[in-house]
Amino acid sequence: MQVATEQAEVRRVLEEVRCSGHSVGFVATMGAFHEGHISLICRSVAENDFTVVSNFVNPLQFAPDEDFEKYPRNLPEDNRHCEIQGADLVFAPTGEEMFRRPPLVSVHVGELAVILEGAHRDGHLIGVATIVTKLFSIVGQCRAYFGEKDWQQLTLVRRLVADLSLPVEVVGCPIVREPDGLALSSRNRYLSGHDRARAGILSRALKHGIEMIKAGESNPAAVVLEMEEMIEPVADKLGYATVVVADSLQMPDSLPASEPLRLLTAAHFGSARLIDNMGYDPAK
Ligand code: PAJ
Repeated sequence: MQVATEQAEVRRVLEEVRCSGHSVGFVATMGAFHEGHISLICRSVAENDFTVVSNFVNPLQFAPDEDFEKYPRNLPEDNRHCEIQGADLVFAPTGEEMFRRPPLVSVHVGELAVILEGAHRDGHLIGVATIVTKLFSIVGQCRAYFGEKDWQQLTLVRRLVADLSLPVEVVGCPIVREPDGLALSSRNRYLSGHDRARAGILSRALKHGIEMIKAGESNPAAVVLEMEEMIEPVADKLGYATVVVADSLQMPDSLPASEPLRLLTAAHFGSARLIDNMGYDPAK
């Protein structure tokens, strides 16, 4: 497995791979791997001839008061995981290599950036859209694997690929969870024992919401209210709990909607802000 720190090297290696007629799979990450990241790498390795993994803690997607400085970094251990899974190339640039000077150009994604996570994390999704576009430009034609864990991020990546005609096929991958339902996240390591025990409420509330829809609840606001009532007394602060149409992220007028739905939530436990979501497909 090769480790590249320069954009030019990644372009050169991947051009050669494509010229030999081989397919490229791409997994974008900020490192500090857990089984969620590993599932994406494993899937890319299984479905492509060559897998490239980027490992870059993107400063553009952290607000000034967020955890950019203390975000967990462990490149040698991450590289070991990549190698074990059979990745071929890791792209681990420095901040200086990615941004020689503060960028003037950014990628705006309209209303997708101001709802849900965007409403709570100023500039976050524009930072994500900008770095993902930049990474796609460096990697070139590929299949790109993103976790459903960050549903809004996955939705906006699909949209930016379509709107900008990028030569990328986006593949959404299921959420990897702990046995009690807690979605794996690099931020789970911020949880104390007490916070960790409380955090299981997120997946339980989402499951409850889905059960209500399955049982015939016709009012999305009623589902939202019951999820809020489950999470609020347990979490330190509720960000949101909501039911939306999976693609548009807009709340349906009534249930059951004819299209797939997504139930999403965010809440604080101690110093960690966690997000989670689950899907409901009326066709299944
Ligand atoms: P990061 O949080 O490191 O996540 C990298 C990828 O792993 C994302 O696609 C995310 O959805 C996926 N992932 C995280 N937890 C998961 C879980 N429990 N199950 C399945 N997949 C999971 O997301 C980012 O980095 C950044 O925003 C990035 C796209 C790299 C841009 O900087």
